[in-house]
Amino acid sequence: MARKFFVGGNFKANGSLKSIQAIVDNLNNAKLDPNVEVVISPPSLFLLPTAEKVSNNVKVAAQNVFDKPDGAWTGELTVKMLVDHGIEWVILGHSERRTIFKESSEFIADKTKAALDSGLSVILCIGETLEEREAGRTIDVCCSQLQAVVDKISDWSKVVIAYEPVWAIGTGKVATTEQAQDAHGALRKWLAEKISPEVAEATRILYGGSVNEKNCKDLATQPDIDGFLVGGASLKPAFVDIINANL
Ligand code: G3P
Repeated sequence: MARKFFVGGNFKANGSLKSIQAIVDNLNNAKLDPNVEVVISPPSLFLLPTAEKVSNNVKVAAQNVFDKPDGAWTGELTVKMLVDHGIEWVILGHSERRTIFKESSEFIADKTKAALDSGLSVILCIGETLEEREAGRTIDVCCSQLQAVVDKISDWSKVVIAYEPVWAIGTGKVATTEQAQDAHGALRKWLAEKISPEVAEATRILYGGSVNEKNCKDLATQPDIDGFLVGGASLKPAFVDIINANL
């Protein structure tokens, strides 16, 4: 079964009503490859205006969500609130949540379960640091992050995995096509062994980390790279070229 190519735009903590409206207008008016699933993720404050204005089959994701139902969790958003507002996707486990906000793989797995149980789809981020890569621990680290989620969920049909080597995020040092394909291939093999060949075959594995309109075409040719999770470049008009990488 062919996996539908997927491109996510993670705006992180960037943007204003005006600048995000400009991104949305650019996407709404662009000729997007119909064989690509596109999801953009603005900061929480802009989720609703973005969801109301975006068209062209582009969907909207939150950048995080809490694992517990509504309650005394100052500052948090719950899955019910996202569902209430028609938000269909959520990014979880981003390395910035893991390193800056100290989110454990266990906590991210609980969030993933809560999101899936409420009908949301999840972009699940994993990735190793430069130190871990140089120590030859890339796959061990990524699979340990995945194992926490394997322990909590059984239905992977609404999960997209984003492999984002931490050393490539925001650095301009994109992984080579070989590095990225090697990691994606190993992750898919692990999914087949740990969950099932069917889940491994069906689950999209995105690459994230300094993707831009110049390097996306080569990366997109790799058999186990099913798309991208794009940071900085998703804020620019050339994000359309990344979405259309296969054209
Ligand atoms: O979630 C995507 C992000 O971590 C990648 O950032 O700026 O390297 O594309 P960037």
